[in-house]
Amino acid sequence: MKEAKNQQLSSAWRERLQALKNVPPVLKIVWESGRYVVALGLFFRIIVSLVPVSTAWVTGLIINNVKAIVDHKEVLSSHLWWLTALEFVLAIAGSVFGRIIDYYDAVLADRYMRHISIRVMDHASQLDLQSYEDPVYYDRLERARVQATDRLGMIQSIGRLFQQTITVISLSVALVYFSPWLLLVLIVCLIPAFMGESHFAFLNYAKNFRQTPVKRELDYLRQVGGSKEAAKELKLFGLSQFLTDRFTSLSNGIFDENIALFRRRLTAVSLLSMLSTTGYYGAYAWAIWETVHGKFDVGTLVFLTASIMNASNNISQMFSTLSSIADQALFLTDLLAFFQMQPSVMSKPDALPAPRPITEGFEFQDVSFSYPGTSRLILNHLNFRLEPGERIALIGQNGQGKTTIVKLITRLYDPTAGRVLLDGVDLRDYKIEDLCREIGVIFQDFMRYEMTAQENIAVGRIEFLNDMERIRSAAEKSLADGVIERLAGGYKQMLGRRFEGGVDLSGGEWQKIALARAYLREAQVLILDEPTAALDARAEYEVFERFNELTVSKMALFISHRFSTVRMAERIIVLEDGCIAEEGSHERLVARGGRYAEMFELQASSYR
Ligand SMILES: Nc1ncnc2c1ncn2[C@@H]1O[C@H](COP(=O)(O)OP(=O)(O)OP(=O)(O)O)[C@@H](O)[C@H]1O
Ligand SMILES: [Mg+2]
Repeated sequence: MKEAKNQQLSSAWRERLQALKNVPPVLKIVWESGRYVVALGLFFRIIVSLVPVSTAWVTGLIINNVKAIVDHKEVLSSHLWWLTALEFVLAIAGSVFGRIIDYYDAVLADRYMRHISIRVMDHASQLDLQSYEDPVYYDRLERARVQATDRLGMIQSIGRLFQQTITVISLSVALVYFSPWLLLVLIVCLIPAFMGESHFAFLNYAKNFRQTPVKRELDYLRQVGGSKEAAKELKLFGLSQFLTDRFTSLSNGIFDENIALFRRRLTAVSLLSMLSTTGYYGAYAWAIWETVHGKFDVGTLVFLTASIMNASNNISQMFSTLSSIADQALFLTDLLAFFQMQPSVMSKPDALPAPRPITEGFEFQDVSFSYPGTSRLILNHLNFRLEPGERIALIGQNGQGKTTIVKLITRLYDPTAGRVLLDGVDLRDYKIEDLCREIGVIFQDFMRYEMTAQENIAVGRIEFLNDMERIRSAAEKSLADGVIERLAGGYKQMLGRRFEGGVDLSGGEWQKIALARAYLREAQVLILDEPTAALDARAEYEVFERFNELTVSKMALFISHRFSTVRMAERIIVLEDGCIAEEGSHERLVARGGRYAEMFELQASSYR
């Protein structure tokens, strides 16, 4: 039992020491975020770090001088006042340069935060969709995000460590000059305190690590509790109490764990710091003893006392700074691991440009797919083609894999088995960005950006952000122009309620805006995943008539549960259990009297 615990502790120590290797890459990031600021900060730190030893030295000289005058060995001369002035200048320099260091620290902090936040956003955007659905990834992203801004302390600690080290070296040289033992005693007495600090820092890290999933849930609850989207349901279902209770019980758990650790730390660290204080007073007593026995003069005693105190303080601070750096470096493990995560869906090095124009279209060849980490086959040896100029409707009950097919076409995922071809070439051989450019897709859970109407359309192809002509024409095609005309601010109107002056739209109005994005793309393939679910019957009819006109020479795939629109497609594919159950035109499928006819009849009969 005890052995296991020891082993656990020693591996904990190893882990901490290993974490120190995170420091250099982070220093590199710090350096990149502001070279001049780092260099100037270091320069002033060097100056300030030499102030204590100089001050102690000058004080010693002053005391000896005063003593000589008092003992009538010397007469009062300007020498004494020059020394006093020098000490005054040192004091001023220490405090002014200290402020300057604070200033550079603050500037560096700002720069570093900006730099690292941008890097985290950049990197997150390169990762697979799959990563976002993985809770481990999410925890890591969360920790990375927090670390990006929370690890500022570490950078300042490193600066401080640098300064403390120089101070300690300068003081040590002075102390060693009088007695090497003195320094050794001081250091030996401080080591246990350092070990204690470090040990608890590690426990703290382990605790934070364990708590991440709970903290994520707390964040979620806090967000749901305060979000506009949830407000309606919270009120009507009376959920507030339920959420608050859950929040309370989770955060109580965290609180108790924290307090328990704080208490243990308090006891252990205070006991250990008593040991270091003993070391300091031991050295002090020794210096007094030697002076009384005529080994040192009074000035030296004063110098030694000041140096011992300063060295003892600085060494202990150095240890705790070092331990806090090691502690913070542990947290950086996640940030660096996050930066090392690579997307699995990537363009090959010699990837092909997407064909333009597309001549043969898409072909699913024996495609099977299950989501990573799950065993259920969503698509099961699926075969079908989508040819240029063709408009296909994809239908099937909820959860049959329609959206999944769209994700495979757009390479948000790669098939588990089989291939998806475009013009006879595996999609994996094309450049991803190129492929995406040729596809305009609106997912059923499209984004409602809390930005202006113009920006909401322009996200479809952000290069056209200020190309009003194209944006207007896209809005016309999707019937969003009518919606925007009614807005007080027109295209400049802020949408959503998060920001001042924003107005919210109805579900159908949002859909028309989102649809404009697909038209703005000017892509060869258009895919609409239930783009009209929230439209009224008349609007839907109009949208699809438009869609039909506008996609005459294009390839189009749309997914819908409404037969009034589905029947407009030239070919209808019925998806069931990961396979194609039936396909053909509306008339053919109705005449066939199979699955489609049954579903159609079911929906039609409810209108009669
Ligand atoms: N990211 C995911 N991870 C694991 N399983 C998923 C994921 N996304 C979807 N699924 C599962 O895959 C199945 C197919 O989902 P898909 O979204 O393709 O259905 P759909 O046909 O579009 O349904 P709907 O008509 O409701 O939109 C569902 O059973 C769903 O539970
Ligand atoms: Mg779907």
